[in-house]
Amino acid sequence: MSETPAGRPEGAANAGLFFKRWLRNPLQMGSIIPSSPALCRRIAAAVERQPDEYVLELGAGTGVISRALLAAGVPPEKLVVVEIVPEMADFLRKALPGVNVICGDAFALKESLPEHMHNRIGTAICGIPLVLLPQDKQKAFVDAVESVAPGKGFLLFTYCITSPLPYGKLSLNAQRLAWTPLNFPPASVWRYQPESAAQAT
Ligand SMILES: C[S@@+](CC[C@H](N)C(=O)[O-])C[C@H]1O[C@@H](n2cnc3c(N)ncnc32)[C@H](O)[C@@H]1O
Repeated sequence: MSETPAGRPEGAANAGLFFKRWLRNPLQMGSIIPSSPALCRRIAAAVERQPDEYVLELGAGTGVISRALLAAGVPPEKLVVVEIVPEMADFLRKALPGVNVICGDAFALKESLPEHMHNRIGTAICGIPLVLLPQDKQKAFVDAVESVAPGKGFLLFTYCITSPLPYGKLSLNAQRLAWTPLNFPPASVWRYQPESAAQAT
């Protein structure tokens, strides 16, 4: 990866690509700039994973959370990122050597995720702006994660003050894990887990 005159690796967050995609499809992007390092570190700190398990990141954008996960010790071969925009998936392949980059739809994980990864997800992280979606689409997302990572649920970051998901209606348990003012806008990290799985633990 080349460097800017200031010595910052070009494309470390690639805000230009991010903003270009936001102009084209603001609802799909949900934000005009990538998540901040402080938010990414908080997300990475919430990850739970056994040595043989994968971390699944959905809606990776330009890979700022992916980099925080790698910095926190997730081996590249155990990180799987799913991104629906081909241009961003191509960027991620070049920027994140050794990481499993899938250009696909997070709502169709059973089809897009290789079978050997099914049931071997330690933590799923959602970067998709679920709060903007109707409840039946939110439910479809919950079911998609459940189809490959039963009982695990997912981490979700949000700019909302309260839960971005109507978790009771989606049969989820919810816990706010972290908050940081060092993001634009300030953001929280939530963990959602199917009620049935939370009761069993
Ligand atoms: C708010 S951005 C988050 C990017 C990055 N994770 C971050 O925190 O800066 C949302 C990303 O989700 C992607 N996305 C939206 N819908 C998706 C879907 N159905 N499947 C996979 N990726 C999706 C968008 O293209 C975009 O890159």
